Amino acid sequence: MTFTRRQILAGLAGLGVVGLGAGGARYWLGGTLDARTHDYELIAAPLDVELVAGHITPAWAFGGQVPGVELRSRQGDWLRVRFINRLDEPTTIHWHGIRLPLEMDGVPYVSQLPVLPGEYFDYRFKTDDAGSFWYHPHVASAHQLGRGLVGPLIVEEREPSGFRHEKVLSLKTWHVDQEGAFTAFSVPREAAREGTRGRLTTLNGKPLPTVELPAGQVVRVRILNLDNTVTYRLNLPGGEARIYALDGHPVEPRDLGKEYWLGPGMRIELGIRAPAAGTELSLRNGPLRLATLKSVPSDEAPGDWPAALPANPVAEPDLEKAEVLRFNFEWAATLASAPGQASNYWQINGKAWDINDKSCADRPIARLKKDGHYIFELRNMAQYLHPIHLHGMAFKVLDSDRKSIIPYFTDTYLLGKNETARIALVADNPGVWMFHCHVIDHMETGLMAAIEVA
Ligand code: C2O
Ligand code: CU
Ligand code: CU
Repeated sequence: MTFTRRQILAGLAGLGVVGLGAGGARYWLGGTLDARTHDYELIAAPLDVELVAGHITPAWAFGGQVPGVELRSRQGDWLRVRFINRLDEPTTIHWHGIRLPLEMDGVPYVSQLPVLPGEYFDYRFKTDDAGSFWYHPHVASAHQLGRGLVGPLIVEEREPSGFRHEKVLSLKTWHVDQEGAFTAFSVPREAAREGTRGRLTTLNGKPLPTVELPAGQVVRVRILNLDNTVTYRLNLPGGEARIYALDGHPVEPRDLGKEYWLGPGMRIELGIRAPAAGTELSLRNGPLRLATLKSVPSDEAPGDWPAALPANPVAEPDLEKAEVLRFNFEWAATLASAPGQASNYWQINGKAWDINDKSCADRPIARLKKDGHYIFELRNMAQYLHPIHLHGMAFKVLDSDRKSIIPYFTDTYLLGKNETARIALVADNPGVWMFHCHVIDHMETGLMAAIEVA
């Protein structure tokens, strides 16, 4: 695998428009690289792509492709991204799952001012955790993410991991019709239920692709759910797959089992042993195929299962001395009473976040003491899934009243129907951190709050 830092992301405009000719791109992604100030120059701009054969979708892209260009860093290194906004509206970048200083977190009016059209912002932070992360705006999320502004961010281990081969598979179900035109990203009656689903499921921007794996090798397959709404019920019938990491943090390797529910924002790293050349496996969402994994001849000696990945340096919460805080996620509709006002369908502890009110973060739902130890009891009072995500810090999932949990660190926990789960953390990162459901429709209709650590 090649790892090129100081990569110039200029001139990539052709990548997402195969089949449409050079005229397909509405913007030329230009710019020069100044290696003294940044490693990546990342441009957000409109880009016409062909998701449905023979049709154009007017997507928005990071680095000239959808999903966005893959960014890579190495554990312990700094990642320096000059982000340039060539959209016609303000935006930001949030680095999902990365533990970083508040000023780099990409939340408008909390971390930074929105980046206006034509402006740039330099993001720079140290990547202390190795794993699979991703990036997306935190402004007008339903349509900005919906149009394609989502991309993978991979942080490699300091030392070789034992995997010689790797694939990054980004899942997204687009809100497009049969002719590739966008459909509504958010429909009120859906926002009040499971969230508005798209129609066209893609992996790395393609519906039902074939992914080639070298026969006999154990391949590290990073699967990222970059979708606004869909929980993919991952399974690989007949395949040999082990879970190596969940949402950017290693676990003791174990069998994938029957099915793994990957909610919006979540990631899973599998070791998959590619069978004999010519064999095809079907990576599925429940009964539906997402991709064909095809074994191709390899002249390397057969690989073995690598050992567990090294743990990330996350502080271990002390459950004995932890303070318990309770968070109820409930359905409670308050409909817009004036034009321009948002309807809210969801609340955390009786409070709905108003995405149009820039001062919500001044009223945090909880105040944690810096370096204090906490247990959060998360209670889903509804029948819909809520992938609950916290910025700025990793947390440990302890237990659930619905399923057996092997405790693990994560940034997003998929809270099931009427489930109560307990998570724990050390509040070691000062700031005001968003705490929200990653079903974008839910987050934009109330299911978000700020947690202060000071
Ligand atoms: Cu992917 Cu506020 O997060
Ligand atoms: Cu996040
Ligand atoms: Cu939700």
